[in-house]
Amino acid sequence: MTDSLDQLEAELLAAVADAGDLDALERTRVAALGKKGAITARLKALGELAPDARKAAGQALNAVKTKVADAIEARKAALADAALAAGLEAERVDVTLPPRPEAEGRVHPISQTIDELTAVFADMGFTVAEAGDIEDDFHNFTALNIPPEHPARQMHDTFYLAPRADGSRMLLRTHTSPVQIRTMQGRTPPLRIIAPGRTYRCDSDMTHTPMFHQVEGLVIDRNIHMGHLKGCLIEFCRAYFEIDDLPLRFRPSFFPFTEPSAEVDIGCSRADGGLKIGAGDDWLEILGSGMVHPRVLAHCGLDPDEWQGFAFGMGIERIAMLKYGIPDLRTFFDSDLRWLRHYGFLPLDLPSMAEGLAR
Ligand code: PHE
Repeated sequence: MTDSLDQLEAELLAAVADAGDLDALERTRVAALGKKGAITARLKALGELAPDARKAAGQALNAVKTKVADAIEARKAALADAALAAGLEAERVDVTLPPRPEAEGRVHPISQTIDELTAVFADMGFTVAEAGDIEDDFHNFTALNIPPEHPARQMHDTFYLAPRADGSRMLLRTHTSPVQIRTMQGRTPPLRIIAPGRTYRCDSDMTHTPMFHQVEGLVIDRNIHMGHLKGCLIEFCRAYFEIDDLPLRFRPSFFPFTEPSAEVDIGCSRADGGLKIGAGDDWLEILGSGMVHPRVLAHCGLDPDEWQGFAFGMGIERIAMLKYGIPDLRTFFDSDLRWLRHYGFLPLDLPSMAEGLAR
């Protein structure tokens, strides 16, 4: 009896150890401890023994039963741990992998350039202002000190809309400067805004498209002078082109809405037909600027003795072409996907002063 009990224990413990999964283990449990299991059968048979023999046999049998039950529990825990580990291994995600597939879309260089210059000006405390593409004569011209019959109107190659009931014609804004007027009319100074957006002129050749983009800048405060204008534009150009010692040249110029006015050139050099931005022996014009004309302030209800300011405007295509070496203006608006794939930017690489503008 003892021998066969030892043998039974050894067999059952071996079966428990061999169970490769929870189902096999359950079958082993039923075979040992189930209603018709080997141990259960022996427990039932105890009744046939003499009382003194029954006690010793019962204790021995119960000890085996406990051992087997404990072994089953331990095996069950081990199998569950193994199943969990296998699951974790199979479902493991490497969060350091790059996103796949690579994003198909590209950010257009115009959008990228607007994001970049917005990041630079935001860092200097500017906010973004907007107005519509369709303007009236007053905001696009008259309020900017360009009265009717002023020769500057001819230079603007304006697109006019059909006349309205009162005979006046709306127009597509020829520059972003009307946003200066709307901002001064709609808010109280001090003001510090940029206004990027679409502009239109009836002109189309190698270097002109009927629709193009400008960004306007306007600062209005007390005691603003030309030094602020220069400092702001030097700071902007160096940050935007990411060239710390980029030289700037301020040339006297004329705009009806600024006095004095200056056109701004950045340093460059040309070698082997290539153009390089940075200190060199040549200059490139990139923007127009000046101190807001007192008459413009007055048109907007601001007292020129109390408030002064400066304004500037530049072509977004132009500064994008210069920074990214895009040779042909007209390709910006061809909607050619191969061009966009080549010159476009990845959607998640948002420009910022902390992380860098273009990556
Ligand atoms: N509006 C001018 C243009 O389109 C640029 C400009 C803006 C000049 C603001 C001076 C001040 O040419």
